[in-house]
Amino acid sequence: PAERDTEAAAILAANDRGGFSVPTKGLYPFQWNWDSAFAAMGYAHASGERAVQELQSLVAGQWPNGMIPHIIFHRPDPGYFPGPEVWETAMTPPTSGITQPPVLAIAIAALADRGVLAGERLADLLEAADRSHAFFFEARRDPATNVVGVVHPWESGRDNMPDWDDALAAVDASKVKPFVRRDTSHIDAAMRPTKEQYERYIALVEFGIAVGWDQRRIMVEGPFFVGDPGIAAVLVRAERELQRLARTIGRDDLGGNVDVRLPALCDGLEALWSDALGAYTTLDLRTGKRGEAVSSASFLPFAAGVVDAAQTERLNAHFDRLAARCRYMVPSYDPDAPTFDEKRYWRGPVWLVVNWLIALGLAETGDAARAERVRGDSRALVEAGGFYEYFSPLTGAPLGGADFTWTAAAWLDFAR
Ligand code: DGY
Repeated sequence: PAERDTEAAAILAANDRGGFSVPTKGLYPFQWNWDSAFAAMGYAHASGERAVQELQSLVAGQWPNGMIPHIIFHRPDPGYFPGPEVWETAMTPPTSGITQPPVLAIAIAALADRGVLAGERLADLLEAADRSHAFFFEARRDPATNVVGVVHPWESGRDNMPDWDDALAAVDASKVKPFVRRDTSHIDAAMRPTKEQYERYIALVEFGIAVGWDQRRIMVEGPFFVGDPGIAAVLVRAERELQRLARTIGRDDLGGNVDVRLPALCDGLEALWSDALGAYTTLDLRTGKRGEAVSSASFLPFAAGVVDAAQTERLNAHFDRLAARCRYMVPSYDPDAPTFDEKRYWRGPVWLVVNWLIALGLAETGDAARAERVRGDSRALVEAGGFYEYFSPLTGAPLGGADFTWTAAAWLDFAR
């Protein structure tokens, strides 16, 4: 309804810090990587210029090695931990030392297709996306399998998803210096990762500092490297978008690089298919152990255009099982798994931005009915609960932070 449209636009305006957005005030007071890419697609509904600025402010934090960091600390804020003084990355502007799902090229394509991004500004952003994809290829791809993985659960964006548990438990946190979390002073602790998980998150940050944030060393020697179907699928879609746009502006140099990378990345994504499970899942690149349950990321490969007919049938069976169990699709983790937790962040709750990409993929593969189930549930969640960070898949209860930028963006661009 029209009131929700107005409210969504007001949230995007309120979370605008002048050229970049924060995910929500209080809990996340800086610029986050994939949040901003989704935010740009939301801003485009009010102002193409503001949408372009969002992406430009994001790539302003890009490292010389091509990595776009997961947080850019444009301005200090005491309300968040771990802030720039913890990361010690020595970048200007200050940033974290890890990345996040590369939604950037997907957002660039959305803005270009709407006609609000062209010419030199389009070329500059595509170059930044190309360098970021090259970074993933060099410093986040296991050369033996072509699987793209994450060196920190935060890189996946799906921080405490149960499939990270075993690999994270193996991280030694005994030497972590004492610290004070800030997230649980904003949000009920039952909706957030546990203390044990936080200690290991910080141990992984300390490893990065110890190797001077050498991103290849972090991948090769670090204590955590797990193949992620979420990031791998987003990257394949992003590569396709980059390739398509590079052709339209005659930048074959970018397209050329993509031609080398794309087949390898598609093979790597296929290596995350578990025949035992009948779904894409994580693969611990240190131990060879695969995730044992479906997560919302299991359905993201539809948007990468890689799923064959037999795989589609098996994924659909999971989708229909979840759809029968959950009033609202798509739960971030399998409700039939013992680790499912309706309220705890990425261990069960529904996130609208993941729904956005899943629905897009389903629609593109011709599955209008399942795409509409995802879209209709997303709309119903916001209509009843407002623009929260995430929602219970069982009851629709709104959870986490309020007035969330990417939930507002998802509403404007896909859910309403
Ligand atoms: C947090 O602080 O919880 C973020 O998800 C890390 O990126």
